[in-house]
Amino acid sequence: MTDNNEKQAAQESQQAQLTAAGNEMSASFLAAKKRSDATLAKLEANPSKFTMLTGDRPTGRLHLGHYFGSIRERVAMQNRGVNTNIIIADYQVITDRDTTEHIEDNVLNLVLDYLAAGIDPTKTMIFTHSAVPAENQLMLPFLSLVTEAELHRNPTVKSEMEASGHALTGLLLTYPVHQACDILFCKANVVPIGKDNLPHVEITRTIARRFNERYAKKNHVFPEPAAILSDAPEIPGLDGRKMSKSYGNSIMLGATAEETAKLIRKSPTDSERMITFDPINRPQVSALLTTAGLVTGRDPKEIAEEIGMGGAGTLKKYVTESVNEFLAPHRERRAELAKDMDSIRDILHEGNARANAIANQTLEEVREAMGMSYDC
Ligand code: TRP
Repeated sequence: MTDNNEKQAAQESQQAQLTAAGNEMSASFLAAKKRSDATLAKLEANPSKFTMLTGDRPTGRLHLGHYFGSIRERVAMQNRGVNTNIIIADYQVITDRDTTEHIEDNVLNLVLDYLAAGIDPTKTMIFTHSAVPAENQLMLPFLSLVTEAELHRNPTVKSEMEASGHALTGLLLTYPVHQACDILFCKANVVPIGKDNLPHVEITRTIARRFNERYAKKNHVFPEPAAILSDAPEIPGLDGRKMSKSYGNSIMLGATAEETAKLIRKSPTDSERMITFDPINRPQVSALLTTAGLVTGRDPKEIAEEIGMGGAGTLKKYVTESVNEFLAPHRERRAELAKDMDSIRDILHEGNARANAIANQTLEEVREAMGMSYDC
């Protein structure tokens, strides 16, 4: 009896803790979302006042989820006149893997997809962090501004460590601070990201604030950047699970029409013939409908009604055709650009040179603020 009571009390307390943690998380998410919306409104009124930085890890090719989740938004910001910057986070690849195999190929293919999607390298700076020493040097003062406990509290780092099956490396533990270097070296004030990267922008804000308070009270060196959280629905993988390269359920922007058709043909559905849009009970059929909805701009429910008793075969045919039609211009531009890989390298070289000039300047300001500029 007592045992049971204790057990129940323990369960209740655990439940209460979980709920509290959940509420705390959603409270900070809601605050971030509010800041994101308010910042976007200001950005629309005055785009040239804003500097955007975001980026990708060069671990593979970009897929449709990347396109709708972020690439499209970057192109829109660039075309609105925001000062836009894209980092290819090559050092971040080794936070949770033991190899840099294929890294150059991945980097160059990212550049190809950016350009094919409408990123204009004369407007947007594209660079890799391994090529910008002064950016990386910011890591030293920044690390002094955070505690070990704060680093260990980062939920994304924890889940990435668990997913990788590796021990927690020093780089994995500290990479959110490295990401603060990525963002702050060019004094970005808007950072479009997915929810999982929110803790990294939070730590970036903390670092900027602490640096300014400690060393630059009168003349702040760093802005406190706002995360920009996209409203785009998360696009599921073809099997209804999260879109991920390791599940083989993602449609790559640069795949061929045939590869795409094959992937869609192989994607699992259920045994019910009638097509309905029901993400909870029919995640696989609904993932196909969501995909078709995004690429056609149509409501997935309407597509489902249209197909009705046509079944999975008709649905897959529709998804294949609409995805391939949507991606055809991207793929054409990509193939054209890929004929001249030297110019792709030149674009990266140019971006890296610009990033170095900015990083050197910021590092100089940091040294000055800290009283460490004795040699000039
Ligand atoms: N962590 C990001 C990702 O995995 C990539 C990234 C690196 C990034 N540095 C950044 C994103 C700075 C925004 C800002 O997707």
